[in-house]
Amino acid sequence: MTDLRPFKIAASRAALAEVRSGMKLGLGTGSTAEEFVKLLGEAAGSGALRDLTCVCTSNVTEALAGSLGLEVALLEDVRRLDIAVDGADEIDSELRLVKGRGGALLREKIVEQAAERFIVIADHTKEVARLGEGPFPVEVVAFASRLLHDRFRDAGFDVSIRMKDGRTFVTDEGHHTLDCLIGDRELAEVVGELRSHAGVVDTGFFPHEATEAFIAGPGGVVHRKR
Ligand code: A5P
Repeated sequence: MTDLRPFKIAASRAALAEVRSGMKLGLGTGSTAEEFVKLLGEAAGSGALRDLTCVCTSNVTEALAGSLGLEVALLEDVRRLDIAVDGADEIDSELRLVKGRGGALLREKIVEQAAERFIVIADHTKEVARLGEGPFPVEVVAFASRLLHDRFRDAGFDVSIRMKDGRTFVTDEGHHTLDCLIGDRELAEVVGELRSHAGVVDTGFFPHEATEAFIAGPGGVVHRKR
């Protein structure tokens, strides 16, 4: 299997070049965002970038950013971000995304909607012809997760409650995640149907949040804009 890490680092470097001293940044979650946060920490540590304020999309990212000496703040105090940088699970030709396989979709969507620019960083394997090829994450309140699992199954979806280390996976907000395979159906339509159920908090469909993407592959890094 190809080692995708060099591509994740290349996309992260391209995004880092967009960051200026004094910016307010949103930091994503996942293995690609982790590379970006490490590079950002290096740049801040060397003095190449100064006075950054970072809002994190998960407790894991917050711990990493803090360990690197980056200044971490709450979104409610910062309000508007200059740039958010995050990975994605699937990216289509219109820069619509599926996110959340790393378990942080809700905070990611909140933070990324607060950013002037949301730059997606990804390796080339994330580009898809059609969204919904893999499991589609749906964040639900714990109270209703088994109930909604059964309803979605009865509606024809191949659905599972996400597990981690033998236990139900719990998000930073205390919710559960249902992973749905949508088959041949159109994701945008499916999202409307899934969201009509009380107890669904949000889904991993990011239709308009991304303003651009750096996608790295064997041929180099491509900058795609909306
Ligand atoms: C986290 O909840 C996700 O949205 C991640 O951004 C996404 O899963 C991409 O993760 P990787 O960079 O690890 O592939």
